[in-house]
Amino acid sequence: MKTDIIKVNKDNPDPEVIKRASEIIRSGGLVAFPTETVYGLGANALDTEAVEKIYLAKGRPSNNPLIVHVATVEVAKKIVAFWNDEAELLSRRFWPGPLTMVLPKRDIVPDNVTGGGSTVAVRLPAHRVAHDLILASKVPIAAPSANRSMRLSPTMADHVRKSLGGRIDMIIDGGPTLVGVESTVIDISRNPAVLLRPGGITPNEIESVIGSIEILSFGDQGHVGVMKSPGMLKKHYSPQAPLECVEGELDIKDILQLHSGERIGILQYQSHTPISREDVVCIEMPTSARKYAARLYAALHSMDDAGAMKIYVEMPPVGEEWMAVRDRLRRASAK
Ligand code: TXA
Ligand code: MG
Repeated sequence: MKTDIIKVNKDNPDPEVIKRASEIIRSGGLVAFPTETVYGLGANALDTEAVEKIYLAKGRPSNNPLIVHVATVEVAKKIVAFWNDEAELLSRRFWPGPLTMVLPKRDIVPDNVTGGGSTVAVRLPAHRVAHDLILASKVPIAAPSANRSMRLSPTMADHVRKSLGGRIDMIIDGGPTLVGVESTVIDISRNPAVLLRPGGITPNEIESVIGSIEILSFGDQGHVGVMKSPGMLKKHYSPQAPLECVEGELDIKDILQLHSGERIGILQYQSHTPISREDVVCIEMPTSARKYAARLYAALHSMDDAGAMKIYVEMPPVGEEWMAVRDRLRRASAK
């Protein structure tokens, strides 16, 4: 299959390009598009066969449900069985934006969208390109991150091309994404609501709107009886090279000695040790959590591209604002 890659202005995409993409969606094809978090791989969420193509292209297990993206709250209400107070309050405060809410589904949502389950995840993205594409398609769009299963999420069109080029119909290139980590996923069909995946919106922000929520301990799936969200799979979001999370300052000298003559990657956070070895890819990460998140996947993708055989990460501090970043790094390091 030939994958068309078309650049657009992220704030004012060419309506002709959006129209072409929407025609692909309406005829059951796959289009990768930017959202404010990461690039998504979209298909008509109401078309069972189109949704099946997403699982095939990604190599995704069929029990891992997809997020349904909508352009209006009205459409969100049409795919869920009920709209509770939490949905009303959270959507008013955080939509459009990086928050995904899980609620019981209505029958019009095909079973393969929800991995066979009775709930559906919905999100109203804040990206203009995503918004225009969903509106033009006139259907909700099911979209996981646009990467092969278990691999790093894409924050640039080129990341999508590398992992899914030749497997999908079109990639809309709207430049790098802003948030950089996936949306926060919260199950509001339960009381209290349960945070299933930390992301762009922090638990404190959510609790300030709906009161206290349950926070599962991440990467600790062993203690959770049922698999509440397959995104809780421990190993996820990982680069090709084994990744080691180091708390506290990296001992750069030690690492360089241990890997003399080997191509490795280092993500620095607090240390600022200049490294002159050509076979070491060293990236100094930003100290602001938001900026760090925005750069994280691109940094790991570049280490993959450089053929690093091992990646060391000097971990950012523990704390509310770092939760999503630390969660992704911990998962990337899981064996
Ligand atoms: O930021 C994002 O959320 C991006 C962009 C494209 O919107 N999408 C994304 O999708 O990250 P994906 O498929 O890579 O991750 C969706 C997560 C998975 O962890 C999945 O298990 C969980 O949401 N999920 C989806 N539907 C669910 C449901 N009904 N119940 C519980 N978890 C659900
Ligand atoms: Mg994903």
